[in-house]
Amino acid sequence: MSEIERLSRDIRKLAKEKNALILAHNYQVSEVQDVADLTGDSLALSIKASRTGADIILFCGVEFMAETASIVSPEKKVLLSAAGAGCLMADMLSADELRDFKAEHPGAPVVTYVNSVAEVKAESDICCTSANAVQVVRSLDAPEVLMTPDRNLAMWAQRHTEQKIHYWPGYCPVHNDLQVAAVKQAMELHPDAVLMAHPECSPAILDIAHVVRSTSGMLAYARESEAREFIVATEEGLLYPLKKENPGKEFYPASSGMICKDMKKTGLEDVLRALETEEPVVRVPEDIRVRALRAVERMMAVPRD
Ligand code: 13P
Ligand code: SF4
Repeated sequence: MSEIERLSRDIRKLAKEKNALILAHNYQVSEVQDVADLTGDSLALSIKASRTGADIILFCGVEFMAETASIVSPEKKVLLSAAGAGCLMADMLSADELRDFKAEHPGAPVVTYVNSVAEVKAESDICCTSANAVQVVRSLDAPEVLMTPDRNLAMWAQRHTEQKIHYWPGYCPVHNDLQVAAVKQAMELHPDAVLMAHPECSPAILDIAHVVRSTSGMLAYARESEAREFIVATEEGLLYPLKKENPGKEFYPASSGMICKDMKKTGLEDVLRALETEEPVVRVPEDIRVRALRAVERMMAVPRD
């Protein structure tokens, strides 16, 4: 038996004994995705987790994802797979900075991407994901809207709405640093491939993309599309489920550098250790949690197109 098989077996056994549900984001390494009960994007995972009877949720991802799980499932113990796995974008906006930003635009509602810290969600009117940002903005009866913390997602939403969006200048370095020249090179190598890009990429990349989707949106698109080849402009972890679900299709990274170091902090040893020690626990303080939950629930009430 290989080391991966041994660790995976021990993890599954312990998860069963402790009635723990293991969630893995689409960017996690392949063996962590394979050992999880559920894979997907951060919000979908948290929502599914809140509907199960598990006593423990072990989130293999980054801290804001475990926080979101804790916001929607306060009665469960939420564990993060690797202590210190953060998000560079979420760290670009604090609650104090958001309060100052709001003071500059009195009366404008705040739309906050789920890739944000819990305190920022608590200061916001409504959350959004990369899959529903446009619908969320349009759902607001307001001529001007603030969007945080991702400027690229905000600029993408601005292309699809009449409302004026004032945005916070945060970004995800993994997506924002992708260069047009690298993507064009991949397109020349694979001229028949569909270019799928995540809305965290810069506007110049989104200009040349054939489809712009969240990670779950890319999985759905690839599944349903008649195309056989795809260039994928998001964190490289998504290539694993794309290939696994579509054995007859080819997927190429848009560039070799799209790696989120925080998403890669989790290995199988970390998953096993977190289950054994039941640490680190992520718990959002109750006063912040109830306000953040309101923003998440308002988002969930927005109808999808
Ligand atoms: P989604 O899986 O929600 O598209 O998010 C992408 C991301 O950057 C998560 O960190
Ligand atoms: Fe944050 Fe970007 Fe990593 Fe996602 S890929 S966790 S947005 S730094």
